[in-house]
Amino acid sequence: MLGLLYSVAMSFEKHQFDAVIVGGGGAGLRAALELAERGIKVAVLSKVFPTRSHTVAAQGGIAAALGNVSGDNWLWHMYDTVKGSDYLGDQDAIEYMCRHAAKAIIELEHFGMPFDRLDNGKIFQRPFGGMTQNFGEKPISRTCAVADRTGHAMLHTLYQRNVKANTTFLIEWFALDLLRDAEGDVLGVIALEIETGAIHLLQAKTTLLATGGAGRIFAASTNAYINTGDGLGMAARAGIPLQDMEFWQFHPTGVLNAGVLITEGVRGEGGYLVNSVGERFMERYAPSAKDLASRDVIARASAIEIKEGRGVGKHKNALYLKLDHLGEELINARLPGIREIAKTFANVDPVRDPIPVVPTAHYMMGGIPTNLNGQVVVPGADGERIVNGLYAVGECACVSVHGANRLGSNSLLDLVVFGKAAGEHMVQAIQAGYSHKPLPADVAEPTLARVSRLERSSGNSVPEVGAAMRNSMQAHCGVFRFPDLLAKGVQEINHIAEQAASIVIRDKSQVFNTARVEALELDNLMEVAQATMHTAYLRTESRGAHAREDHPQRDDANWLKHSLYYQQGQKVVYKPVRMKPLTVETFAPQQRVY
Ligand code: FUM
Repeated sequence: MLGLLYSVAMSFEKHQFDAVIVGGGGAGLRAALELAERGIKVAVLSKVFPTRSHTVAAQGGIAAALGNVSGDNWLWHMYDTVKGSDYLGDQDAIEYMCRHAAKAIIELEHFGMPFDRLDNGKIFQRPFGGMTQNFGEKPISRTCAVADRTGHAMLHTLYQRNVKANTTFLIEWFALDLLRDAEGDVLGVIALEIETGAIHLLQAKTTLLATGGAGRIFAASTNAYINTGDGLGMAARAGIPLQDMEFWQFHPTGVLNAGVLITEGVRGEGGYLVNSVGERFMERYAPSAKDLASRDVIARASAIEIKEGRGVGKHKNALYLKLDHLGEELINARLPGIREIAKTFANVDPVRDPIPVVPTAHYMMGGIPTNLNGQVVVPGADGERIVNGLYAVGECACVSVHGANRLGSNSLLDLVVFGKAAGEHMVQAIQAGYSHKPLPADVAEPTLARVSRLERSSGNSVPEVGAAMRNSMQAHCGVFRFPDLLAKGVQEINHIAEQAASIVIRDKSQVFNTARVEALELDNLMEVAQATMHTAYLRTESRGAHAREDHPQRDDANWLKHSLYYQQGQKVVYKPVRMKPLTVETFAPQQRVY
């Protein structure tokens, strides 16, 4: 991204669309397609070229009970997802996702997505962690893949379909805030055109946030630098609570020191983790599923191995992922990207040598609370209230299908299933006569004040405050969480937030608008970091990816509930998990073993 020298537009251009979608990843593009193909005037605003969105980095695949390799059933997929979520996932949403999965895959195939094939011509499927046959009996091949570049193939397919459908793309535009009226209805977004520095008001009948994750709150992350929680920041500043932010997934296999993802597909193809004595240690922690247990289980096992001195490498702070026994031919066919990544970032060729890996922050289970249509919902006087005009889908949203721990390959599925559902609902709302509401005269003022504070002559440095936040999150809110560290983390992150309030762009003669974007991204990251630290401190149980050293057990009596964190006053309220599926029986909480 290049930009002109730092500049602030004193006036702004106004544009009107039926729908504005913030984010050009899988979720945003799937929703946009639904709208554009029905002739709705839709704009996708993205701070990067859409095919550079983080969906492009998804490797191992997308889950659906197609049964191409062995018999399968969406109900088994649902069971696995509920169990994987450690029973925090809402079972109506999980049923919806798993029931719609096969149709979503066929639809992608018809869009032109080049899935790998089995010898009989059907779509290739591989095993993934926590995916089982017959309610946990044994691992199943359920994850459809395009080698180890599934997200790349999906994103390019969806982008091309949107081009064909005449979706408007606003590329390298950065959304700053939601536009709202006195009732709290959402009327569009205010955005910065990065190249020119111009500020635009995008008025929309419906607005969809599809801004992806926020893994950059951590120092070590598989996430791209663009994953800065922009939609969550916008929602939080608009008074919308963030749901289940204490739940962050640490992927067991990020490349040591680099953080780059090594797909779970490696273990799906038969690779496995070993410690410093060459032991396949997952056999002790998950005797049945072993290296195909769910990610939270493997991340904890890896952390314990390292803590107890059985780590590998110079500092004994990693484990080895071994795949040489798979053979060069299979690695080249199914895992070509992994071979490249291992050579580039770990200086090993996995055809011969194991890859040093470590649990690395990967995925945010929480997000902006929504219903099954992607409509944003908040607590109201009599139960939940819909925020008129606002939708959210994908990693920035919490519908909630992943609960306390997401199963690998369920995220690409979440994007397309709920992207389509939200798109359909937006079409209905627009066709039913949902109209543009007038913009209040002062609608842009809070945003302009936030942007212009960066111009003050002195204040805190953006890189320094950003580094302090990432280091604090890494130190206080990792795989295992300790009460004293969390308490300290809450103090520290609040202090860093105060510093972030006074950030400035220091050398204005030399900066580009990209520096301005980085500063504004830090506002969003701070919202996410604070929500995470506070809710993690308050949840005194262990569930899924939230492992408290002082409360090692799951506590369904007190904690089978979602957290909702409000920026204003740092208030946290709770709401019950929706345990009732749409058409089938509830999967009652059980002890979770793999
Ligand atoms: O391991 C992976 O390929 C990641 C997949 C996912 O996060 O769903």
